[in-house]
Amino acid sequence: MRKVKIDVPASTTNIGCGFDCLGLALSLYNTVEVELIEEESIFIEVKGEGEKSIPTTRDNIIIPALKMVFDRVKKKLKGIRIREINRIPLERGLGSSAATRIAGIVAANYLLDANLSARDILKMATLLEGHPDNAAASLLGGLVAVTINEREPAWVKLSVPETLKVVAVIPRIKVPTKKAREILPSKVSLSDAVFNLSRLAILLPSLTAGIWENLSFATQDKLHQPYRSSLIPQMNRVLEAALAAGAKGAFLSGAGSGIAAFVSENKAGDIGKAMQDAFLEKGIESEVFILSVDKKGCKINEER
Ligand code: HSE
Repeated sequence: MRKVKIDVPASTTNIGCGFDCLGLALSLYNTVEVELIEEESIFIEVKGEGEKSIPTTRDNIIIPALKMVFDRVKKKLKGIRIREINRIPLERGLGSSAATRIAGIVAANYLLDANLSARDILKMATLLEGHPDNAAASLLGGLVAVTINEREPAWVKLSVPETLKVVAVIPRIKVPTKKAREILPSKVSLSDAVFNLSRLAILLPSLTAGIWENLSFATQDKLHQPYRSSLIPQMNRVLEAALAAGAKGAFLSGAGSGIAAFVSENKAGDIGKAMQDAFLEKGIESEVFILSVDKKGCKINEER
């Protein structure tokens, strides 16, 4: 029966001031294979990140993603075999859940000839995720500015110069996005809102035009990072260490716990080491990923 294999990129979001509206796809990929089978059972195999913790039952988050598409075409999800090869660390701010959900929706769209548009796919993923930024980047690739307008996702995909690299330092600490959202206030001051808006207005043209000297202040934030610092020991120290080592800008990756830095020259290794050392001051071990921007987003790379 039909089978599809999908590569889906990780993403870093918020980028400091762009809470819930900026996503950047990264060159770190999960591979997901989905096959329709005769037997009326669900088989799930998980390798790599989360192989001991991710459910291999209907509780796996890919199932509701697949089911949304089955429901759309009025078919029942009966027999399916799924193989996840996960490289994106879980609950560390690199969009692993969005990547899995996007892969599920894209796979079902192909297998069922559901003819979904990018907007349909992003809308479904956003319903599951609760926010569109990681899903938009994983689906579309590149730098994506995204919002929800009258319940429909709307976005602009932007390209950034090839020289931009992202150093993501991923500590052992897991931060579930739900917890990192619950900690945020429901109201913010006008001055904090203007702080972020004015930085966002500088950040986007600076990223697309390669005006790197603006990034150190344009990646600052007052809407989420200050509140989340209580969940991520050393967050501010790691951000400072990245800038002191020569990063162009530094920010909490998504909801954390990972911290990302923009790098434009060949200093990525030193910057990653400085960030790791800052975590180590409190005995927190971490892993460094030196990544490029993924331009293509989720791709079907094998089908039958
Ligand atoms: N924009 C979201 C947040 C990303 O910061 O909560 C979470 O992955």
